[in-house]
Amino acid sequence: MIEKKDFPLLRYNTFGIDVTAARFIEYDSVDELRELITGARFSEPFLHIGGGSNLLFLNNYYEGTVLHSNIKTIEVTDEDSCAVRLKVGSGVAWDDFVAHCVKRNLYGVENLSLIPGEVGAGAVQNIGAYGVEAKDLITEVHTIDTEGRERIYSHADCRFAYRYSIFKEPSSKGVIVTYVCFRLSKQESYTLGYGTVRKELEDYPAVTPGAVREVIIRIRNSKLPDPAVLGNAGSFFMNPVVPKTTFEAIRRDHPSMPFYPMGEDSIKIPAGWLIEQSGWKGKSFGPAAVHDKQALVVVNKGGATGRDIIALSDAVRRSVKEKFGIDIHPEVKTIC
Ligand code: EPU
Repeated sequence: MIEKKDFPLLRYNTFGIDVTAARFIEYDSVDELRELITGARFSEPFLHIGGGSNLLFLNNYYEGTVLHSNIKTIEVTDEDSCAVRLKVGSGVAWDDFVAHCVKRNLYGVENLSLIPGEVGAGAVQNIGAYGVEAKDLITEVHTIDTEGRERIYSHADCRFAYRYSIFKEPSSKGVIVTYVCFRLSKQESYTLGYGTVRKELEDYPAVTPGAVREVIIRIRNSKLPDPAVLGNAGSFFMNPVVPKTTFEAIRRDHPSMPFYPMGEDSIKIPAGWLIEQSGWKGKSFGPAAVHDKQALVVVNKGGATGRDIIALSDAVRRSVKEKFGIDIHPEVKTIC
């Protein structure tokens, strides 16, 4: 276990906001975590972080305890001729988990290559890309709460939806994910229908999880800025889901608008498209800017505070609302 006072979080938030935590604790096991959170010395507020790739700190000092998991095991819990079940520690880097599966020719998670962050946060956020979401592979989620009670959430208990799980609810505030269990297929199956994935695979002699991983990494690198170079948190906004009537009204004036049907009556519209059409792609607002290759991403050009980022976000949201009548909401979690 590592415990530090007045700990700089620059390395722990991909936006590159210069923030210090009053206390930072990294634990190595569930037993250590239980002892810590049920102990007399532990007091709220606390913030449990993963890779800090979806966080925006508003202030330059966090007056509480930041917790970080160093549970890094990947364990096979069951295997048959069709599938392998893995129990993965919350502190495993998401992309290390993907690489682990791809190396063993397990199918299902390759489209989620290069997503920043860690496995525990991946379940909380139900991360997704290129037609696959974490929920498609998760079987159960192991947790402990601040009273020290352990609970295993079944897939249904997690109430997964687009970038959502029950762990995002205020009622889950004291619940900490310790392990995530996945089922990966041993039988060849791919999801290649999204964007240019299938097209780019034509350059490869055969489709394999490794080839798909390479293609996804190439696409991501061409659109999404590297946080080590330009601070960002991936998609800053969620794609809005609107009633079909709203979608049809907008489409009359914008026939080329991209969209994804979501059931009978709802349509998901890419926020990146709405933001670009509102004139924000590549535009700066003080030290914050809308990325020039993907308008869904907000970047820290250097020295931006959380409030600079929020000022840009508010201005973008106002423009989209004025032009299209649609409210877009940040995907990124704001910390006061
Ligand atoms: N688009 C524009 N302008 C832009 C950006 C996008 O017109 O500046 C259009 C594209 O041309 C395309 C459509 O919007 O027709 C969708 O774009 P893209 O495929 O890049 O995906 P997205 O909807 O912008 C989502 C996820 C990403 C994920 C990609 C690929 C959300 C909030 N974002 O972005 O996730 O990588 O799909 O599946 O759902 C993340 O969450 O951090 C993230 C990067």
